[in-house]
Amino acid sequence: MTTLFTDLQQFSYWRGEILKHESIGFVPTMGALHQGHVSLMQRARRECDRVVVSIYVNSLQFNSLDDFSKYPRTVDEDFELCKSAGVDVVLSPLKDDMFPLHPVGLITPSHDAEGFEGADRPGHFSGVVTVVDRLFSIVQPTDAYFGLKDYQQLAVINNMSNELHRHVTIHACETIREDDGLAMSSRNRLLSPSARTSAARIPLALLHAISCWQDGNSSSIAAIDAARSVLECDSTIEIQYVSVVAAGTMNIVDTINQHDVIIVAVVIDGIRLIDNMKFITA
Ligand code: PAJ
Repeated sequence: MTTLFTDLQQFSYWRGEILKHESIGFVPTMGALHQGHVSLMQRARRECDRVVVSIYVNSLQFNSLDDFSKYPRTVDEDFELCKSAGVDVVLSPLKDDMFPLHPVGLITPSHDAEGFEGADRPGHFSGVVTVVDRLFSIVQPTDAYFGLKDYQQLAVINNMSNELHRHVTIHACETIREDDGLAMSSRNRLLSPSARTSAARIPLALLHAISCWQDGNSSSIAAIDAARSVLECDSTIEIQYVSVVAAGTMNIVDTINQHDVIIVAVVIDGIRLIDNMKFITA
């Protein structure tokens, strides 16, 4: 059975009943759930005694009110998906319960928050780590599941958690993709049909960069150029960045090694999309 809590007090009664030796797998989300989210829930279900999913559209991490209000909200479908994934609890708190004090005391993220998404979206990662810290304090999970799709977010959350929630084990989960390779994202549903077609170039660009490296060219400039050449064929794609970073970090590399990661952000038709892939030998 899946129970929905909107009231934090009610949730804490439930949490108080969980025995000390039981593991609690936690999947924080902002709703508009898709199979990418479901894969995190399924992994938590396999690995933990209890599974909690939070659905909270966190205004602190949005740069504009417009973006926040446009964010898709699909509450009923979300609950059904959680149910079918065998989730025990869906926690969907109200803003005033999450952050009763005004102004909200924001947490400063690690250096990994600088650049890339952090440069384009000032304050974004501060909003992310502030809400994840708060959710960890409420849920008190033993394990938490995050997608590699949001590569920089994962790096920043790992750092925050190492500092403030050492007892929580963070699990990095593989990116789930559509049949044509586009990484699943709640924002994909905002794409027009033609923007959706263009977006399929993103995974192709990353794969092209990786095959260039697999062919023996280890220069990151060459890989970046290869990815850009695929994206630039479509004039509706506005490239924000393409870069190569060392495995598990946000440190830019000049020479690519196995497990380094190519990261990309583009805007198509006003919708910002991010993706990344790891360099691994064929
Ligand atoms: P949201 O975008 O809803 O994503 C929730 C989790 O699902 C994140 O860990 C994200 O990386 C993961 N995810 C998204 N798309 C995925 C895909 N295609 N494959 C696998 N995992 C995927 O990320 C957030 O919410 C918020 O910033 C949050 C961490 C909840 C804080 O508000």
